Amino acid sequence: MMITKRLCDMLNAQVGRELAASQQYLAAAIYFADKGLDKWADVFYRQSEEERFHALKIVKFLVEVGAETTVPEAPAASPTMFESPLDVTSKALAWEREVTQNFRDMAKAAMEEPDPVCRPILDWFLTEQVEEESTMDKLTQILESGLNPFMAEQVLDEATAEVGGGDEA
Ligand SMILES: [Fe+2]
Ligand SMILES: [Fe+2]
Repeated sequence: MMITKRLCDMLNAQVGRELAASQQYLAAAIYFADKGLDKWADVFYRQSEEERFHALKIVKFLVEVGAETTVPEAPAASPTMFESPLDVTSKALAWEREVTQNFRDMAKAAMEEPDPVCRPILDWFLTEQVEEESTMDKLTQILESGLNPFMAEQVLDEATAEVGGGDEA
């Protein structure tokens, strides 16, 4: 294996978190779709796919470097976990901040080991997290402005231009 055991374990744990995020965003999409907020639903369906793409990106990296990897169980998620559209975007922003912290911890571990082989993929994810946090922050600000979520659908395209663009990387 071309990477250290420590980073291998951390990256495997991250696969589980990305899949969990995919489930949570799918629940968020259902929450919006149930309310007839189809454009909001579409943003979160795309976000759910993007998180799955993140999990795959790590899995493929682990396989490539000869590290052991398994498919963890993804936790259930329900649209009833959300109280309002603003609650969805606020929770999403908090989740994204946690993920950024996970990658910060991995980047720190990669320096300590040192584990230079992991650095490019960690850099990619750190850059991606800037986008992810910024998108969820924008969506939260739109709803905090008091704009009705139906009216806000008109500005969603601009606010979410980055969502779903991940598979080009
Ligand atoms: Fe992710
Ligand atoms: Fe994310």
